[in-house]
Amino acid sequence: MKSDKALPRHIAIIMDGNGRWAKRRMMPRGFGHREGVKVIDRIADAVFSRGIGCLTLFAFSTENWKRPEEEVDGLLDLFKKYLRKKTPLLAEKGIRLNVLGDTSVLDAETLALISDAYEKTHGLRAGTLNICFNYGGRAEIVRAAAKLAGEGREITEQSFSDALYTAGMPDPDILIRTGGEHRISNFLLYQTAYSEIYFTGTLWPDFTEKELDEILADFAATDRRYGKVK
Ligand code: FPP
Repeated sequence: MKSDKALPRHIAIIMDGNGRWAKRRMMPRGFGHREGVKVIDRIADAVFSRGIGCLTLFAFSTENWKRPEEEVDGLLDLFKKYLRKKTPLLAEKGIRLNVLGDTSVLDAETLALISDAYEKTHGLRAGTLNICFNYGGRAEIVRAAAKLAGEGREITEQSFSDALYTAGMPDPDILIRTGGEHRISNFLLYQTAYSEIYFTGTLWPDFTEKELDEILADFAATDRRYGKVK
């Protein structure tokens, strides 16, 4: 039997390989990250134009603070520029922009840009773009558990899902990791329980709409059993 749904509702991506892409060109790592942001635009457009409602991208992990200061500063700066430039463009397209992760440690300017993105896009329904920033999957799970315990709520799979950053969103049907590593790297640990996982050696700046379509075609032909026998 074919999959119950040929089109995924939610795609999550670990965008790995920017540094190596830049190094191969004898350029600083930041050059790869800047190129990576351009690919975000192309892939987000492709995802939403194919009727897929939700895209979640891993932009900065709780571990990424350990990178050299210059690279961290560059990523923080890129993130600010991204929010400033893309919020109005996404709002125009009807796309909701969420930032998932522990944003409390970010500077006031970034926090204001995150609030602005929320205010301008939270009611929009043409698609949802989640940017995970200072995000860690274990921390998200612990936060959800503490939240429910603090509120004295019963812990069920439903209440737990509702306490995650992704509350109200479908779990990712597809998780893609570019860059050749075969790891989940603390990304969406709870939500990817039944995701189809695609590892590709393509470095993120080289990832194309064509490769996305190949993954979508493979997904459409996949028999998803969720532990059952068909
Ligand atoms: C991993 O490449 C990439 C990241 C640290 C996350 C992805 C970041 C971007 C696409 C740019 C920032 C995004 C926004 C929205 C501002 P790597 O540096 O680990 O590459 P490597 O494995 O080749 O070293």
